[in-house]
Amino acid sequence: MRILITGATGFIGRTLVLRALRDGGVSEVIAPVRSPEKLRAQLAREGVADDPKLRIMEAEAPDWDFRGLGPVDRAVHCAGVLFSRSRDQYFRVNVEGTERLLQTLRGRPRVVVLSSQSAGGPTPPGADSKKITHPDRPLSWYGASKLRMELAVREAAPDYPLLLLRAPMVLGPGDQATLPLFRMVRGKIWIKPGLRAKHFSWISSDDLADGIWTWLARGEGGLQTAHIAAPDVISDSQLMRTAARVSGRRGLLLPLPQVFLRAVALASRFLPVIGEKVPSLTPDRAREIWPGRWVIDGEPFSAMTGWRARATLENTLARTLAWFRREGLV
Ligand SMILES: NC(=O)c1ccc[n+]([C@@H]2O[C@H](COP(=O)([O-])OP(=O)(O)OC[C@H]3O[C@@H](n4cnc5c(N)ncnc54)[C@H](OP(=O)(O)O)[C@@H]3O)[C@@H](O)[C@H]2O)c1
Repeated sequence: MRILITGATGFIGRTLVLRALRDGGVSEVIAPVRSPEKLRAQLAREGVADDPKLRIMEAEAPDWDFRGLGPVDRAVHCAGVLFSRSRDQYFRVNVEGTERLLQTLRGRPRVVVLSSQSAGGPTPPGADSKKITHPDRPLSWYGASKLRMELAVREAAPDYPLLLLRAPMVLGPGDQATLPLFRMVRGKIWIKPGLRAKHFSWISSDDLADGIWTWLARGEGGLQTAHIAAPDVISDSQLMRTAARVSGRRGLLLPLPQVFLRAVALASRFLPVIGEKVPSLTPDRAREIWPGRWVIDGEPFSAMTGWRARATLENTLARTLAWFRREGLV
């Protein structure tokens, strides 16, 4: 079986490449990346060097072209822009890059396209969780680009099975987005945006990879859209306290009124150093920080596939920290 995985130098793509290389049923893993050197260096640090199953090719969205590869059996599209100061960059890579991928893929593969809960927006007021049938109300350029990407996939109407998979916050080894959290809990004061508790869905990267593998092994056709999530809902303070606990740190959690963080997010427009320290704090992505509930209903995906998340938050954050330590980042 030949599998194409985009975004292999990223957090989720790399998790999937490592998973595919371990899978005895996979004969070739094709990884189109912007920087083959970066991927080789990353894989070497994971203890994978020159695996004969791995074919690395240099390619950049949205201009990439996969016709020359011949037919593939599976594809997982992870490449995307998550944080940018340019609306245009979100749409060029996330929308046009996906359109071009589907236009140039050959064979009748089973395909998973990574979307995000940001495409749908937060949990609607009064609901316990956001269902896939609720109206979509993205808050950020990122979310809007992911929603447009989903529409573009529907318009392309591929004649092979394709899953648009909306993931919540993904945690696990290799996730750069939690680095500021682990750095913060090393100090004595931990700043939490907002006075009230916020609640989130989450998933570990290994469970996400398992869910994707489970769907790829199935037989049904058609175009599907689904949420995937761990069954437990976590709060912002629980996330901070768990990160501190696995780091062996103690401190004071300081909830700050959102108005202060809005000011910092706004300032990041003029002071690039803030954006460099916390890339997620662009004025655009910061809009996603304010709602109190980002909980999605992952049950239909579990019922359809039999997949169940297994990781705990504590174990996932402990493994994430171990990875940061190995990389010398904390
Ligand atoms: N992480 C989460 O919590 C989360 C949650 C929900 C959904 N998702 C979705 O999951 C997917 C993967 O996310 P991630 O966390 O792995 O992101 P990531 O770590 O930022 O990785 C993004 C990947 O996309 C590649 N990329 C960016 N622009 C590209 C371009 N123009 N051409 C080719 N490749 C490009 C990056 O390559 P370079 O290394 O060259 O930059 C990198 O390999 C994304 O579609 C994201 O929207 C993520």
